[in-house]
Amino acid sequence: MAKYTAPRGTKDILPAEVGLWQFIEDNCRDIFFLYNYQEIRTPAFESTELFARSIGKTTDIVKKEMYTFEDRKGRSLTLRPEATAAVVRAGLENNLIAPDSFTKLFYIGPMFRYERPQAGRQRQFHQAGVEVFGSADPLLDAEVIVMAVKLFDSLGLKELRVDLNSVGCKKCQPGYRQAVQDYFRPKVEKMCADCRERLESNPLRILDCKEQGCQPFLATAPASAQHLCEECDLHFKKLRSYLDNAKVKYQLNDRLVRGLDYYTKTAFEVVSSQLGSQNAVCGGGRYDNLVEELGGKATPAIGFAIGLERVVEVLKQAKLAGHDSRGLLLYLATIGEPAKKVAFDLLNKGRELGIPSDMDYTGKSLKAQMKAADRLKAQYTYIIGDDEVAKGTAVLKNMATSEEREVTFENVLYQPFGLEDVKEEAACGGCGGSCGNNCE
Ligand code: HAM
Repeated sequence: MAKYTAPRGTKDILPAEVGLWQFIEDNCRDIFFLYNYQEIRTPAFESTELFARSIGKTTDIVKKEMYTFEDRKGRSLTLRPEATAAVVRAGLENNLIAPDSFTKLFYIGPMFRYERPQAGRQRQFHQAGVEVFGSADPLLDAEVIVMAVKLFDSLGLKELRVDLNSVGCKKCQPGYRQAVQDYFRPKVEKMCADCRERLESNPLRILDCKEQGCQPFLATAPASAQHLCEECDLHFKKLRSYLDNAKVKYQLNDRLVRGLDYYTKTAFEVVSSQLGSQNAVCGGGRYDNLVEELGGKATPAIGFAIGLERVVEVLKQAKLAGHDSRGLLLYLATIGEPAKKVAFDLLNKGRELGIPSDMDYTGKSLKAQMKAADRLKAQYTYIIGDDEVAKGTAVLKNMATSEEREVTFENVLYQPFGLEDVKEEAACGGCGGSCGNNCE
């Protein structure tokens, strides 16, 4: 066993899997740009107060799951458990969020929560997310949800379910909270310790309890959609009609309260039946009060975040994970010192031409070098020994077809890769047309 191992709840993403990660991240970026989002990168840690204020002091994340530490000057800092609060902070600090502006931002990066590790739940995990500031229009909620669905479509994942709810606003949330408390108060003695504690501190979180013994009590709990004020009710109706028009399939879910306190009105999740209890691949919603709570002018906002580890898992299970890391175009196999020198020179020239290429630096036999070329998924190998150095020509092997042909050192970087034109220009050196090589 290795002397040091990755900290509990973290995972190395190894070269064999990186191709799949890049495929997912590239897809996210493409879709975000398609919908006019701009990237923002915020620090991995922020002041602890920022997260406590925004996510909510009584949430599991703030109470139990934050990586909090003091720096050398005694400031309390926390590794970001999510990015929404950080994006609001950065947006306000850099004037990206202002009352009369409309701003669409996205991010991709690691988040940190001290949770009990299990399948789909890590202590360092990765999210790709978006945040939009400056519109209260339910049409924007529809656009954000449509984009999430399109993103999963673009990854080849169509068998996912969108769960939708409205959690109301400052006006209607207190009434709903009261109704939930009243409903659970006579039952809570028979429920789990967490639920008993949440009854006073954060009763809506009871609805999200996963304990088997609590489930029968949850089934008949009051639904927030039944307690919405007129404005929230209209917002929710409009959103549903926009989603219907866009042919987005969703399921109304009264239990969907989300684990963060900042949500208002729309709350949604994208869930996969292929994952176990940690089945949400994406979670989000509206948070119309957060910007003001963090010191800005009242600005409506909405966003979501996708859990990338869970997407990787679903893609693997759906057998859609065939995105290998990129392979080499050319591998130079050498025998003897003179050949190594020639190969090194060819490699340098090849890389200048943009040909991903490599050679052996560890003294491998020719057979072992050919195996290495295979492992590196090289499309061609070029075998150079003493005789070849003397002749200035060697055998180029197409690794897929095993076809072999004699190619001169001069041509090996051009011919197989369709770069003859580049070669002519390079040979000419830019005569302005007089050489007859078409290099003008
Ligand atoms: P969240 O529901 O806490 O929301 O996280 C979003 C997604 O991140 C989850 O659906 C899940 O896929 C993934 N995730 C969360 N915790 C873990 C974990 N421990 N291990 C692996 N994956 C995890 C937020 O973070 C909000 N900031 C989303 C948002 C953006 N709402 C508005 N804007």
